Amino acid sequence: MIDFETFASRFRARPWLLSAAALLSLSAGGCGQNGQPALEAVRSAQDVVEAETGMVVSAYPDASEIGTEVLRAGGNAVDAAIATGFALAVTHPTAGNIGGGGFMVIRFPDGRTTALDFREKAPLAAHPEMFLDESGEYSAQVHHYSHLAVGVPGTVAGFAHAHESYGSAEWRDLVDPAVGLARDGFVVRERLARSLERMLPRFETYPTTHAQFSKDGSPYQPGDTLVQADLGATLERIRDEGRAGFYAGTTARLLAEEMERGGGAITEEDLARYQAQERAPVTGTYRGFDVISMPPPSSGGTALVEMLNVLEGWDVAAMGHNSPEHAHHLVEVMRRAFRDRATYLADPDFADVPVERLTSKEYAAELRAVVEAGQAGASSPEDVSAAAVAPESAETTHYSVVDGDGMAVSVTYTLEAGYGSMITVPGAGFLLNNEMGDFNARPGLTTETGLIGTEPNLARPEQRMLSSMTPTILARDGALVAVVGSPGGRTIINTVLQIVVNTVDFEMAPAQAVASRRLHHQWLPNVVRLEERYMSAEDAAVLEEMGHAIDWRSSQGIAHCIFVDPATGALVGVPDPRDSDGTAAGY
Ligand code: GLY
Repeated sequence: MIDFETFASRFRARPWLLSAAALLSLSAGGCGQNGQPALEAVRSAQDVVEAETGMVVSAYPDASEIGTEVLRAGGNAVDAAIATGFALAVTHPTAGNIGGGGFMVIRFPDGRTTALDFREKAPLAAHPEMFLDESGEYSAQVHHYSHLAVGVPGTVAGFAHAHESYGSAEWRDLVDPAVGLARDGFVVRERLARSLERMLPRFETYPTTHAQFSKDGSPYQPGDTLVQADLGATLERIRDEGRAGFYAGTTARLLAEEMERGGGAITEEDLARYQAQERAPVTGTYRGFDVISMPPPSSGGTALVEMLNVLEGWDVAAMGHNSPEHAHHLVEVMRRAFRDRATYLADPDFADVPVERLTSKEYAAELRAVVEAGQAGASSPEDVSAAAVAPESAETTHYSVVDGDGMAVSVTYTLEAGYGSMITVPGAGFLLNNEMGDFNARPGLTTETGLIGTEPNLARPEQRMLSSMTPTILARDGALVAVVGSPGGRTIINTVLQIVVNTVDFEMAPAQAVASRRLHHQWLPNVVRLEERYMSAEDAAVLEEMGHAIDWRSSQGIAHCIFVDPATGALVGVPDPRDSDGTAAGY
């Protein structure tokens, strides 16, 4: 059991506010646990920002600053989250969006919580066999990169619902900064320039997208100004008309016309019918900390609480951080949670999802007993093809917000793949998602083995596709502890899990909890993906001897988080060092 006084005293010492020189010396050879240079990835001490009153941490500096300005002007954390989200739709086109969807988890200053589901929906014309080609064969192209891959967008409805229910600022003041970024342009940073340059050949198939994200066909360079006039006009309609500026009138017509041109299914009726849903968060406890996360149609919160419940029965800290024993136990809980994810999780408006059982301490005890009996591979039947598990994109973006009253907002939203479907709506200037790819491919891929059980997550009219996004908030004894989340497809859940474990079990300072190397296992394929330098070659050999196949990956997740110093109440913004554009802005 963690000694909270020790935890608090570490926070009091503020070890994360290391000088740049100290961090450089760590990166030159200083080592964390297991010989890994634990802070090597932290770029400079300035990246971690401490603030007294309000904080936004997001994937682009302009967006974090716009959110913080809303807080300074008296807006609350929901207002700032909306303004940050609209700004990212301009400055972070790979995942920031108005043509996609996502989730928002809110913790109010009095400890109440809620969750907003603005996940995309299947259009009315959807059906489980819609991803077959003309010869009746499943087509990954249709499923992931076609007009049929586009789900009915939810972001604008989600932000409008959040504002109506919990905002305090004027709506137009939250959208207007994004209008300015689109109309007047913003400065392209190195990471975005490289991303757009890489994508330009693929954008050639999508002339509107190619024109919007190139300079007369040539790649933008760092320092160039990117103007998106059509997107600015759409944002103006949203600013002036609210959700109707997107789901009706000009924007809806332009979107429906593009669908018709490209053989898509979304109509103006689909858009008019779209509603965001408010849901009760999934909650749990971990060694005295309260975990508040996203319920279905995300699998994230359910799997997170399930895994933490199993880990709670072991002395994880005694295993040693990222040791073979620690990795083995993480893999065994991940394996089981991802099996349950595939078996049970789906849109709760369409399927009976046993969240209560999956997140119960009793169920965790059963799973723990199986792991302790040494049945490491027991839940990975050999006769289930790894190909039966649909790929999920590592794109998406997460941002965290806390205001001066202690209201905390955790938002993860997405277009699914980087730049989504890559289809920009002509005349409206926004990218469309390819979220229908998060539905299962077709009936039969699940039932022919009888082991994956993915029937609940098939495409049906107005169903929401299963997600892994895990916007999460941690609290303890009535006080906010952290706002956490990440992009990364299925790896999202495991990234959030490890940040929680790093914070609670290993008592890491916030920067280290976020920077530390991560691993991922998702039941199928039966492979542990280790982030490079997760552990030494010797430790990796021990893990292999324990029966785990290993694959090395360069990077996992981009977790832009906020922690609260329990001693002073100061906010500590930690942009994930894996993203050179991630920025904490506070005051
Ligand atoms: N498209 C990524 C997710 O929803 O998890």
